Amino acid sequence: MILVIVILIFGYLVLDSIKKFITLNKISFKLKGPTPLPIVGNLIQIGDKGHKVLLKYHEKYGDVYRIWMGDYFTIVVRDIDMIKKMYIDNAYVFLNHSDTPSNQYFSHNFGGLPFNLDKSEWKKRRVITAGALSKVKLRNVYNSMNSIIGQLLENLKQHSISGEPFEPHYHSDKLLSDINFKLFFNSDPDRNDVKSKEFQKFSDAVNQIVVDLGTGKLSDFVYMLQPLLLKYYQWTYKHMNFIDKFIEREYNEHVETFKPEYNEDPRDFLDTLIVKMGEHYEGDDIKKMVLELLFNIFIASIDTTAGTIEWAYLYLANYPDIQEEVYQELKTVIGDRELLPSDRNSTPLLNAFIKELNRIKPVVPFNIPRLTTDDVEIDGIFIPKNTHIIANTYGVGYCEKYFPNPSEFNPSRFLNPHINYSVFSYGPRGCVGQHFAMDILFLSIGNIIKSYKVSKPNGTKISEEGKLGLSFRPFDFTVSIEERK
Ligand code: HEM
Repeated sequence: MILVIVILIFGYLVLDSIKKFITLNKISFKLKGPTPLPIVGNLIQIGDKGHKVLLKYHEKYGDVYRIWMGDYFTIVVRDIDMIKKMYIDNAYVFLNHSDTPSNQYFSHNFGGLPFNLDKSEWKKRRVITAGALSKVKLRNVYNSMNSIIGQLLENLKQHSISGEPFEPHYHSDKLLSDINFKLFFNSDPDRNDVKSKEFQKFSDAVNQIVVDLGTGKLSDFVYMLQPLLLKYYQWTYKHMNFIDKFIEREYNEHVETFKPEYNEDPRDFLDTLIVKMGEHYEGDDIKKMVLELLFNIFIASIDTTAGTIEWAYLYLANYPDIQEEVYQELKTVIGDRELLPSDRNSTPLLNAFIKELNRIKPVVPFNIPRLTTDDVEIDGIFIPKNTHIIANTYGVGYCEKYFPNPSEFNPSRFLNPHINYSVFSYGPRGCVGQHFAMDILFLSIGNIIKSYKVSKPNGTKISEEGKLGLSFRPFDFTVSIEERK
């Protein structure tokens, strides 16, 4: 028996090496990259500091190189022109995100939007989602945005009065939960009824899923282990069931209380989805589509946007001169009145601060990896079908040819931008929530700067290192704040 197992393992290793060799031969060794190990490829070298390791490889192997993520032959790119040739000019070949078991399980078997592998189905849902996230459809959510942010400013007051340092992590996550509950379920923050307990449980389950999804798993990338991971999720994972039931209850309640006028003036995103899905699907399919979409979008929006706001606290504290300049801009342009999304046209310093934050600490540092669905050649490089693509946003931001002295935090480089850098990616599968996210970032970060002076406790510089999970966020840190008079 032991002999059979040893022979099987040996045979697998030999086949794996042959497969890797043939793939490399196919692309004519044009792309350089680190030597892969059998089965794991380069995953061990990359470890949990992927942003730094992939950047180092760029320095060694150039703007485009190859690695193996387990069984996935992967091309890593930090050249913006090449990324655009892939994601815009050849969008159809590069459209799908990767097909790992975690993506499969947490997307209800490749349903919803981000991990849908059926391109025509994806397109239908994408159009519906983009329409539902438009400013006109989200009128009611936008009308509540300043009061939700007002609640954040009120909660921050206690720290200003006590003078005690605090962790911004909690406040950023709570702000995004509050905005999401308003967006998805028209629920006001800090409500004191039975339902608020259910919302809290839902938030906790979502947070747990964010943690689980953000933990790298070798079995996602090794074909032989993939069925085991999927079974493990199906047999042991409890949170998805709870989430599904919660959203279904909200869906049913929305349908029962729906009034004809909500067709034109929806209460929230869920109303719009119900109406729009009804134009394309029938019966129980509508409910299924809505449930899948809602969950995906909840996850896609919360950790990313909250993470960016958390980085903002850190950089405001570490760079008091820059903070003061942005504050003076807001004082002059906005004065005592409420900050509005339309003020973005007249606040170049605040916009540049947010863009530089997105460059130096992109919360989605490697994009969501894509998977090619055909052979294609770009810039003389042959890219076979089923190649994993990492458009390395972190690498672009730290590339000297685009951003001289990239380790320096310098928002003024975005005052006259000559580079089309985007943390939201490019082309038809780029982030569908980009405009909504930018409005949240503008209003929340702008309001924090307008209302409080953020500083580092004891004057000690806060570590700017980040940790990779589902999003790229800072390690725990504290700041102090003082109310602006
Ligand atoms: C700072 C905040 C955010 C960042 C940096 C971000 C970034 C990204 C990136 C890089 C992608 C992958 C694009 C690609 O594969 O090329 C993506 C996809 C996506 N994002 Fe965002 N995102 C943010 C906030 C949001 C928000 C607020 C929402 C929804 C309200 C959202 C919904 C989505 C969805 C649904 C997808 C999948 C799109 C598709 O597959 O068609 N994101 N996002």
